[in-house]
Amino acid sequence: MSNPADRPVPQHVAIIMDGNGRWANARGLPRTLGHRKGVEVVRDTVKTAREAGIGYLTLFAFSSENWRRPQAEISELFGLLKAFVRRDLAELHAANVRIRVIGDRVTLQPDIRTLLLEAEERTAANSGMTLVIAFNYGARDEIARAAARLALDVREGRLDPSEIDAEKLNGSLDTAGMPDPDLIIRTSGEERLSNFLLWQAAYSELMFVPDFWPDFSAELFLSVLDRYASRDRRFGGLSTKPMAAVGL
Ligand code: IPE
Ligand code: IPE
Ligand code: MG
Repeated sequence: MSNPADRPVPQHVAIIMDGNGRWANARGLPRTLGHRKGVEVVRDTVKTAREAGIGYLTLFAFSSENWRRPQAEISELFGLLKAFVRRDLAELHAANVRIRVIGDRVTLQPDIRTLLLEAEERTAANSGMTLVIAFNYGARDEIARAAARLALDVREGRLDPSEIDAEKLNGSLDTAGMPDPDLIIRTSGEERLSNFLLWQAAYSELMFVPDFWPDFSAELFLSVLDRYASRDRRFGGLSTKPMAAVGL
């Protein structure tokens, strides 16, 4: 779909969906209700991203550090992921969405591993937007697992250490084959990456919005995309934008 205002659309948008608990607290509700409302916003956000012509949408759903939360909240988050995949898979597949999951799956329960694998396999041939779910994901863990894969290749004689470069490491990450995120959005006013896509974020534009995730509307998403379009991405080189456009 072409962009109506002819602005550059980010090919890959990644979102740190933060603030569900505070959204609920502010209303005197249990945190779980914030997470439930958060899933509804995920549905709307996927739709808006597809309509905007975004190629990859990565959503941070559960971090490798979120195991520090109370067991009841962890169970709720796992339950919500399962319910989302079960309920929305058919619709996402019909909309030509491809699903990929990043994060450490080895430590997850077999039922959830099977569900995630099924979602990926069923949608593997889809050519529309790729929805990347970051679940049990931590960037340092991902990089360490990539290093371990390369070490195994060396041990088994498939790879010489002199061949290990940034491209090789990149190709061993969970995100192998995906473009780096052009834009990373974090809701809730926190301004940190919390171990999200540390390698891939090398040249990402970062946007922090004060709104809690359950309040992240389509309108807000589109306004963030507008702000992205006015950024001057230089990748270490020189600006290719006319001076007026970069405010000089
Ligand atoms: C984001 O909301 C959802 C997850 C981290 C899974 P939080 O649960 O972190 O909400 P706050 O940040 O405590 O408000
Ligand atoms: C990041 O949010 C993880 C997800 C959104 C899944 P957190 O709420 O876990 O991050 P911190 O603890 O505030 O850094
Ligand atoms: Mg949080």
